[in-house]
Parts: sequence; C-alpha cells; structure tokens
Amino acid sequence: IKINNLRGVTDQVITLDPGYKNTGSCTSAITFLDGDKGILRYRGYSIEELAEKADFLEVAFLLIFGELPNQVQLDKFHADIKSQSVVDEDVKKILDAFPKSAHPMGVLASLTSALTAFNPSSVNVNSEEEMYKAIVKIMGKFPVLVAWTLRKKQGLPLDYGDKNLGYVENVLKMMFKQPNEDYKHDPVMINALDKLLILHADHEQNCSTSTVRIVGSSHAGLFASLSAGISALWGPLHGGANQAVLEMLEAIKADGGDTKKYMAKAKDKDDPFRLMGFGHRVYKNFDPRAKIIKKAADEVLGELGVEDPILDIAKGLEREALEDTYFVDRKLYPNVDFYSGIIYRAMGIPVDMFTVMFALGRLPGWIAQWREMRLNKEPIGRPRQIYTGETYRPFKAINER
Ligand code: ACO
Repeated sequence: IKINNLRGVTDQVITLDPGYKNTGSCTSAITFLDGDKGILRYRGYSIEELAEKADFLEVAFLLIFGELPNQVQLDKFHADIKSQSVVDEDVKKILDAFPKSAHPMGVLASLTSALTAFNPSSVNVNSEEEMYKAIVKIMGKFPVLVAWTLRKKQGLPLDYGDKNLGYVENVLKMMFKQPNEDYKHDPVMINALDKLLILHADHEQNCSTSTVRIVGSSHAGLFASLSAGISALWGPLHGGANQAVLEMLEAIKADGGDTKKYMAKAKDKDDPFRLMGFGHRVYKNFDPRAKIIKKAADEVLGELGVEDPILDIAKGLEREALEDTYFVDRKLYPNVDFYSGIIYRAMGIPVDMFTVMFALGRLPGWIAQWREMRLNKEPIGRPRQIYTGETYRPFKAINER
C-alpha cells in the first residue's frame, strides 16, 4: 500500500498529529539530526568540525549543492553572488516608508517578498540553471537587505558592500560602516559571526524550513517562500527566542539576579512564563550547537574584552536547570538561542536584530531545502484535518437570527 493511497483502503482514516510531532513530511539528504544523542550533521559532516574548520560560504555551498566546494567552485559561487549584490534602488523607497520603530523581522520579510517584483525572472523557476540564478541572486541581495534594515533603524545612509571582502566580512562592513570611516573589522568579530551563521545554517524540518518547503510546493517563487520562512522564524518559540532570551536575562538582572524566582515561574503551570532558550522539539539531550556557542561566548567576550553580567546569569540558570527534576524529567536543555544573543550583543548588534542574524544564517538551509523539494518534484503540501464543527444547518435569514 502506498502512503498516498492509505485513505482509500482505510475508509478515509486520517492520522492526526498536531504540531507534526511524529510526522515526516519529506525525505531529505541535507541535515541529519539525532536528538537523543545530540548529533547534528550537514551532508554527513559534523557541526563541530564545520564550525571549527569551515567558513559560512563553504557551508552554504555544501548545504545547497551537497558537497564541499573545491577552490574553483567556491570562487565561482562567490563571484556569482557578488555580481548580484545590488538591490533595485526603488527598494529604498519601500524601506523609507516603514516607521523607524518597525520590527526588523517584519521589514526583512516584506523586503524579501518585494524582491520578487524587481526580479520577475526569479519567480517561475523550474530548471536547475534557473534555480541557480535565483539562488545566487538572493545570496547576494539578502545581506544588503539585512544591513539596510539595521542602518535604517540607526539613521545611517544605505550603502552597498565591498566586493574585495569575504562574504561574512562584507556583511559586517555593510552593517556597521559609519559615514567617512575607513572601516576595518576585527578578525574576532568575523570568526564569531562565521561560526554563528554556520551553526544556524540548517536544522532539517523545523517550523520556518517546513514553511519554506510548503509555500514553495505550490511553485510560488524562492523569494516568496523565503519571505514566508522569515515570518515563521520571527516567533519567540522559534528563531525569535534569541531576542526573548536576552530580554529575559535582562529582566532577571534588573530584578536583582534572582534566578530561582524565574525557575519557579517557568515550572508553574498557571504562569505562561517559559525559560526562553530552553527545550527543543527534537533534542532531548544537549543541543550540540548550544555547547559550541557557550564556549564561543566565553572566548569572544574575552577576546573583545567585554564583561557581561548576563553571561553569569545565563550560566547560573543552566546550572540550576541541570539539577532540577522539572527540567531533567522533561529533558529540557539550553538550545541554540540560549547563548547566541550574548555574543551578538558583544558584537554591537541590537537585540531586535538578533533574529535577523539568525535568518541570515538560515538562508542557505532554506534555499537547500527549497531546491531539494523542487528537484524531488514533491507534491503540493496540503495537510488534512478532522472536522469538529456543526453538521448541516439550514440558512437563517438575518431577521430570524
Ligand atoms: N520552560 C519551561 N517549561 C518548558 C519549556 C521551557 N522553556 N519548554 C518546554 N517546557 C515543558 C512544557 O511545559 C511541557 O511540560 P508538560 O509535559 O508538563 O506539559 C514539556 O516541557 C514539553 O514541552 P512542549 O511545549 O510540549 O514541547 P514542544 O516540543 O511542543 O516545544 C519548544 C518545544 C517550543 C522549543 C519549547 O521547549 C519552548 O517553548 N521553549 C522556549 C522557547 C525557545 O527557546 N524556542 C527556541 C527553540 S530552538 C529554535 O527554534 C531555533
């Protein structure tokens, strides 16, 4: 029996799995995750090794095309991306129309969607060649949108990057260069951002990636699918957790650093408060990304000479959670977002930009998953439901209601 015939031979039986806690939506050769053992691999390579030895653009190539690039392939990929790193000037007008107070994730989702209007050839793509063109376009333009989103908030002029720089260094320059400044970024910052982006680059069928795949399954274009993924990532239960973690740690600090009080709140089922940055749908053990980021937080803050008391609060919460039966029984460990914000803050990135940085890292993962979905010729995503509403009712005229 084929799974797509199951309903026919089972008298219309439907599996109901709210939140898809145990339902696979596709086969995928991109990311392997063992949540019980805390293993994460991209295309077979361990996240620990990639974070240590690779750079973000190599990892992007690996995720999207399946193999680590040789130097020639990497240079070509980078050159193709750089050739697409200009955004239509009219996009600035759209950005201008947003209030300064707009959340950067809303702005980024809108601008990404708007790119479809300026790049119509990227909408209806079917061949591998058309896909490649759309991919390098968005890899080139997305960092510009990220940087502009920040610069608009800070009232800085909107510039383009420097084609002589590496992908990540260029992102930092576009974000932080002040007018009339001979800008040079600290290698500590470049390495830290490279590592963070690699750690966020893919995570199989999470909420935003599933969104990208399902929107793309209707053959909506890549940019529209990505825009939907950005909106999904924004939520505090997903990528928005990095902002929520930092705000939570700040609130604990402002409240005198009483971590026990917040642990108690998190355990109280009548209190909606959750310990942000803790727990994961798939990891029932340490999130391997959190381990790497925790170590990186110590190193980066040390190298940048930043002392941040909220790092101690975060470590204190982790220590307490590891000894608390509520967290131990439910296998709630720090996830990728628990320590990342502390590094972003030390780098001078404002808290409401944290999830934008996550989106920048996740971009190649979303692209890889979208491309795989299209190359596998997956059918349109269309879940079923169990109807629980009224049975047939005759219509009542308005004066009879
Ligand atoms: N604080 C306190 N209790 C928690 C937490 C938390 N952070 N996370 C889960 N729990 C509890 C739940 O209340 C539930 O308890 P119960 O069995 O007594 O009802 C149990 O642990 C299982 O939690 P669920 O919500 O059923 O797990 P689910 O897989 O649906 O949710 C999620 C996973 C959304 C990540 C959840 O752990 C959470 O809300 N964490 C905080 C937000 C967060 O950090 N999100 C980022 C995730 S990583 C990422 O997306 C990039």
